[in-house]
Amino acid sequence: VSPARIIDGRAIATHISERTVGSAAALRERGVTPVLAIVVPNDDPGAAWYVRSLRRLGDRVGVECQVHQMPGPATAADVLARLSEVSADPGVHGVICQAPLPDGLAPAAAGARIAVAKDVDGANPASLGGLAAGVPGVFAPATAAAVMEILAHEHVDPAGRPAVVVGRSTVVGKPAALLLLAASATVTVCHSRTRNLAEVCRTAEILVVAAGRAHLIGAGHVAPGAIVIDVGTNPAEGGGLTGDVDTAAVTLAAGAVTPVPGGVGPVTTAQLMRQTVRAALDATAAEAG
Ligand SMILES: NC(=O)c1ccc[n+]([C@@H]2O[C@H](COP(=O)([O-])OP(=O)(O)OC[C@H]3O[C@@H](n4cnc5c(N)ncnc54)[C@H](OP(=O)(O)O)[C@@H]3O)[C@@H](O)[C@H]2O)c1
Repeated sequence: VSPARIIDGRAIATHISERTVGSAAALRERGVTPVLAIVVPNDDPGAAWYVRSLRRLGDRVGVECQVHQMPGPATAADVLARLSEVSADPGVHGVICQAPLPDGLAPAAAGARIAVAKDVDGANPASLGGLAAGVPGVFAPATAAAVMEILAHEHVDPAGRPAVVVGRSTVVGKPAALLLLAASATVTVCHSRTRNLAEVCRTAEILVVAAGRAHLIGAGHVAPGAIVIDVGTNPAEGGGLTGDVDTAAVTLAAGAVTPVPGGVGPVTTAQLMRQTVRAALDATAAEAG
């Protein structure tokens, strides 16, 4: 048995970003700079690190990241007001709100303040509803979209294939399942109440894991030849990140597997920038039309 191929998420991200650079440059020629507003209602170091990495990527691809750092401690009302304000700004094309949110502010309530046309990380429940209803043009959360990008780059057409998604969160599991379903996979969604998780996972040709449990998925969960996409990011012993998949263990069974770090993460940020440019293109076309 040959060991699984380790999918190079950074290379896929670079490929996506190259195309984003082209679309952003075309927009700039028409006098439009794509702008992503990032509302940061916390002083969390992890959030600050992520925002810095978005800024760096934005600089590379030609998306201006407008960071709205709220003076702490921000209240729920402050955050809602700021989201409404940036969402209404005609100079802003995409809006995200960086977790963690203040106590008492539900992610759905924050997301609902972002206009669907600018909801480039699919945080508005209306975007998820649009995804479920097959409304064209709505944005999926960038992570779920990244899962589909990885499959496309691996030349895996989901149509007709059994796919298992572990996790049912609104940010990852549910939208990933909806996108796989829209691509005509036969989708099963697992969660913490699923019985015989390993047995269900072994039915998958496409296994997407977003549980937030380090090394939940081992060799016994993976069918021979399956493609395994590990969305999980968990603190690793001794620093760094580790995924939900025990990559070393599954490598003898799987056909291909994404590593953590260097898998879904970079594809997600590349996808977020691409979706921002698409929002700017849509807005510009709507103005012209
Ligand atoms: N790479 C990226 O860009 C990116 C982006 C977003 C998230 N993430 C990572 O992805 C992971 C999931 O994120 P999330 O926001 O979806 O997390 P979440 O909201 O905590 O949801 C986790 C899901 O996994 C299920 N689950 C938990 N333990 C399980 C178990 N033992 N067996 C089966 N299912 C189990 C939960 O089931 P119940 O619903 O029954 O509780 C829940 O549906 C986290 O590690 C997060 O850091 C990565």
